[in-house]
Amino acid sequence: MGSPRCNNRFVVALLVLLIFASVNSSASAFTHQKKVQMRDKVRKMFYHAYDNYMAHAFPHDELKPLTKTFTDSLSELGNLNLEYLPQNYNGSALSLIESLSSLIVLGNFTEFERGVMWLSENLTFDVDARVNLFECNIRVLGGLISAHILASENKSLFTNSSYEERLLHLAQDLGRRFLPAFETPTGLPYAWINLKHGVIENETTETSTSGCGSLILEMGALSRLTGDSRFERAALRALRKLWSMRSSLNLLGTTLNVLTGEWIEYSSGIGAGVDSFYEYLMKAYILFGSDEFWDMFHLAYLAVQKYFRHGPWYHEADMRSGKATYWQLTSLQAFWPGLQTLVGDVSAANLSHREFFYVWKKYGVLPERYLLEHATLHPTEKYYPLRPEFAESTYYLYQATKDPWYLEVGESIISSLNDHTKVDGGFASVRDVSTMKHEDHQHSFFLSETCKYLYLLYDDSFLAGRNFVFTTEGHPLPVRSLWHERLPVTYNPSNWTSSFKDDTKATRVSALESQVCPETIYGSKVESACHVPDLQVNHRCTSDAGCGIDSTNCRKRTCSAAGYCGLWRFVH
Ligand SMILES: *[C@@H]1O[C@H](CO)[C@@H](O)[C@H](O)[C@H]1NC(C)=O
Ligand SMILES: *[C@@H]1O[C@H](CO)[C@@H](O)[C@H](O)[C@H]1NC(C)=O
Ligand SMILES: *[C@@H]1O[C@H](CO)[C@@H](O)[C@H](O)[C@H]1NC(C)=O
Ligand SMILES: *[C@@H]1O[C@H](CO)[C@@H](O)[C@H](O)[C@H]1NC(C)=O
Ligand SMILES: *[C@@H]1O[C@H](CO)[C@@H](O)[C@H](O)[C@H]1NC(C)=O
Ligand SMILES: *[C@@H]1O[C@H](CO)[C@@H](O)[C@H](O)[C@H]1NC(C)=O
Ligand SMILES: *[C@@H]1O[C@H](CO)[C@@H](O)[C@H](O)[C@H]1NC(C)=O
Ligand SMILES: *[C@@H]1O[C@H](CO)[C@@H](O)[C@H](O)[C@H]1NC(C)=O
Repeated sequence: MGSPRCNNRFVVALLVLLIFASVNSSASAFTHQKKVQMRDKVRKMFYHAYDNYMAHAFPHDELKPLTKTFTDSLSELGNLNLEYLPQNYNGSALSLIESLSSLIVLGNFTEFERGVMWLSENLTFDVDARVNLFECNIRVLGGLISAHILASENKSLFTNSSYEERLLHLAQDLGRRFLPAFETPTGLPYAWINLKHGVIENETTETSTSGCGSLILEMGALSRLTGDSRFERAALRALRKLWSMRSSLNLLGTTLNVLTGEWIEYSSGIGAGVDSFYEYLMKAYILFGSDEFWDMFHLAYLAVQKYFRHGPWYHEADMRSGKATYWQLTSLQAFWPGLQTLVGDVSAANLSHREFFYVWKKYGVLPERYLLEHATLHPTEKYYPLRPEFAESTYYLYQATKDPWYLEVGESIISSLNDHTKVDGGFASVRDVSTMKHEDHQHSFFLSETCKYLYLLYDDSFLAGRNFVFTTEGHPLPVRSLWHERLPVTYNPSNWTSSFKDDTKATRVSALESQVCPETIYGSKVESACHVPDLQVNHRCTSDAGCGIDSTNCRKRTCSAAGYCGLWRFVH
């Protein structure tokens, strides 16, 4: 399938646009010195959170910063009713695992080595604990795999010991413990798995769209690294099954039954229960290069724009009728502008990002739910658990545009976090944004994501010369040309393992650090600067001419029947 080459006219147009943007914007607002200052502020935040965890909670899972004690929360994540809690579980050093890739981003190689050595000697997954497959995948498996790649990339990183694939052994052991969850008639995994005993008797058959649709990055990477194809196959089969359950409008619901493959909750949006499904389709395409992910993503993205979008906001809708159901902004949705930036829809991303920032400023942090029709807080979900999504989108938009305004947004986030969530024993979640009352919990994603994205906003030297995809938990996975082999449509596991062994020759292929232009995979390098944003600020269009070029594959975008720009080759 040939793709049109990058059109030079558009490259020039983009470059002019970027130069214009940087000249035009308040260049004086953010000096180099100020950037260093902000970077050091974030560094301090990370260490305040990390050192308190290590002092008061390690090797348990997470820190309780108010009482300076711990919680073994891996078994509680996603477990709202706190069912089947383990009797004899002392944690898995969750926050340390989540910190490893951040330590590398911050350049703390000795602490990284210490952490890796501790884990390889002391961590075991042979524990009688029932965990959420999705949470354990993104936090633990993702943390280990990312740290493994970072450790094996730098041969001089370990000073006292040799690395010897220590984290990969742990990751592989964990991945094997996930596999029984996928043994269902549909291939859709159970939401819960006991790490020692597998799926427990009478386990709930209900799971979420993100629970079975966002496993492919970690499990795919694990297969590529180990040569054991079972992980990728299981995740891919689940993803394909999930996609086959979409409605005729290309919408999915939020919850489903893993045994029957039937929907339970038909309403969905881009927030809780679904968010990372969209994210992983796009990121899997970037990481693995298979058109299959791209095709799914674009149909899904078109449906989101058509049925959920209302100006810069996104509401929820019924997958069967497309009718709006809930008009709510949720703090998890704030990742969407970041994803749109990756796709190349920078102006649409910018527009939504502004709205999230408006709500952030209104309350000092982002409330979990905000009622759009009444412009007020949701009566019960008023909390802010140190979530990273808004900082994440700010980071992507800054990478894409270098507009210093995003650095000011970052500064505002950093002040809010220090003013409202910093306590003597770490950083505390906010229980109620209208009172700023605290909750005794420092979530591990504060270390893996919130601090990392804020740091990268002011110092992205970690990214220099390399392309990374960040998992939904903020763990970087390098984009490697060898992982870009096309996957056969029906998976044939016996024939690809050895060729996917470690390849450290990652090539820099993109103008946007976090992107890759697929044209480069099989031939020579092509900068993906061929992205041209929509001419229409509101992302609506009346003809193809207003739609620009897509950054991820240099294809010319068209105007859909619904009046939105995209790569709608199925529509036209
Ligand atoms: C957990 O800690 C308790 C108390 O220190 C100890 O008795 C128990 O054996 C530990 N359990 C495991 C699985 O390590
Ligand atoms: C690395 O982290 C440890 C633990 O917080 C700290 O003591 C040390 O100073 C850090 N090293 C660097 C280079 O930042
Ligand atoms: C390496 O060994 C030295 C001397 O034993 C010790 O002081 C240092 O903390 C060790 N570094 C790490 C990362 O374990
Ligand atoms: C493993 O844990 C033990 C007990 O806490 C500790 O003494 C030892 O140093 C740990 N191993 C490593 C490599 O840190
Ligand atoms: C590799 O690790 C060493 C520390 O042992 C560090 O000085 C160096 O900067 C690292 N290289 C990269 C590319 O991160
Ligand atoms: C599972 O459900 C069956 C039927 O309701 C019940 O008889 C059995 O005791 C349950 N098993 C467990 C471990 O709860
Ligand atoms: C983002 O939107 C604002 C207006 O709200 C505009 O001033 C700015 O130039 C836009 N930035 C980009 C990169 O589109
Ligand atoms: C693997 O597949 C390629 C083409 O897809 C084929 O040429 C090759 O013979 C196969 N190798 C094995 C060991 O089956």
